[in-house]
Amino acid sequence: MDTQTQESVQLFDKCRNFTKAREIQAAGLYPYFKPISDSEDTTVVIEGQKRIMLGSNNYLGLTHHPKVLEAASRALSRYGSGCTGSRFLNGTLDLHGQLESALAAFLGKEDCLVFSTGYQANLGLISGLIGRGDLVYLDKLDHASIVDGAKMSYGDTMRFNHGDLASLERMIERTRNSRGAMIVVDGVYSMEGDIANVPELVRIAKRHGTALALDDAHSIGVLGPNGEGTAAHFGMTDEVDLIAGTFSKSLASIGGFVAGSESVIHYLKHHSRPLIFTASLPPANTAGVLAALEVIKTEPHRRERLWANTHRLHAGLRGLGYNIGETETPIVPVLIGPLETTLVFWRRLFDAGVFTNPVAPPAVPPSQCRLRTSLMATHTADQIDFCIEQFGKIGRELGVI
Ligand SMILES: Cc1ncc(COP(=O)(O)O)c(C=O)c1O
Repeated sequence: MDTQTQESVQLFDKCRNFTKAREIQAAGLYPYFKPISDSEDTTVVIEGQKRIMLGSNNYLGLTHHPKVLEAASRALSRYGSGCTGSRFLNGTLDLHGQLESALAAFLGKEDCLVFSTGYQANLGLISGLIGRGDLVYLDKLDHASIVDGAKMSYGDTMRFNHGDLASLERMIERTRNSRGAMIVVDGVYSMEGDIANVPELVRIAKRHGTALALDDAHSIGVLGPNGEGTAAHFGMTDEVDLIAGTFSKSLASIGGFVAGSESVIHYLKHHSRPLIFTASLPPANTAGVLAALEVIKTEPHRRERLWANTHRLHAGLRGLGYNIGETETPIVPVLIGPLETTLVFWRRLFDAGVFTNPVAPPAVPPSQCRLRTSLMATHTADQIDFCIEQFGKIGRELGVI
């Protein structure tokens, strides 16, 4: 299509009129889509310079673990570069089955189903189970994939204020009317780092006969006696009906899963469009995740290091006077304030050699922009202290602390 024709297409007016990102680019403050040209675990090269990665979800530092790399490379040679089909048809490997059994055993559930991304796992879980006439209850800070799964379903969605479980219970009393219903929440909230109140959620779910599903994207490998996630952290694995999660964080790859009872997983296998109508997880990723799961089980010191690093950063930032909210986990949001100050702060940290992720509206209110930082087991104490020092220096210069 030539330019003249494009300009006559009314639909594209919004694209031509979208200038905000270009203004931020022109000011040299654009923080998104920064290409990484090299990665050594906790350090990455961006724009030719080494920087500490303080914004990844690679919590246990397994993306470069020799066992993970070796398993992925063996699978690549044996099965090829892709499955070229759906799990439902030609795209299921023996590796997928092995991973599903290993995850079900690890999580303490009867069965498990592997999806091609964590995003699709939530879409598939919610749209697969919630049909016409059913109801799904979501926390207002649930991840976008949960919200989109609810939108994709034919059921009704109700959203309660973050963590306000008294209001959730009143909402259920008002609306459920013996319909099929499920509560879906993040186990650990991805932008705030706080942990869901699973004991109270279980009490409400049991009392009102609703299913309870946790999205453990940020909890697998992090919480629980062996990294099994949020339900295990509270000793309530049997009381939580479904656990969803992703392979793109502690498990160092891409992909996702839903674990639960045999009959629910069997039903999802035959009713979940985001499983059936997309190609399956590639061999190298599947084998890499199997190896990463083994490392989680056999190298508990990584989780211990992650928590030591987490406490070091929490204490350092709180000591400087920063507001890091209610976080209890390796996700550490640093409240900066208005968008412009946040982007300037982000740029100053970037130039000093520290990579963080700015969180801007509509994800947060305009006056509460923040820099989302996150820790890895493999960060050294020196790296963390350097980041804290930079936060102190820049925060004082910009008048944030
Ligand atoms: C809470 C939560 N759920 C689901 C997802 C989606 O996972 P993935 O990126 O692996 O598709 C994410 C990732 O950003 C997440 O933070």
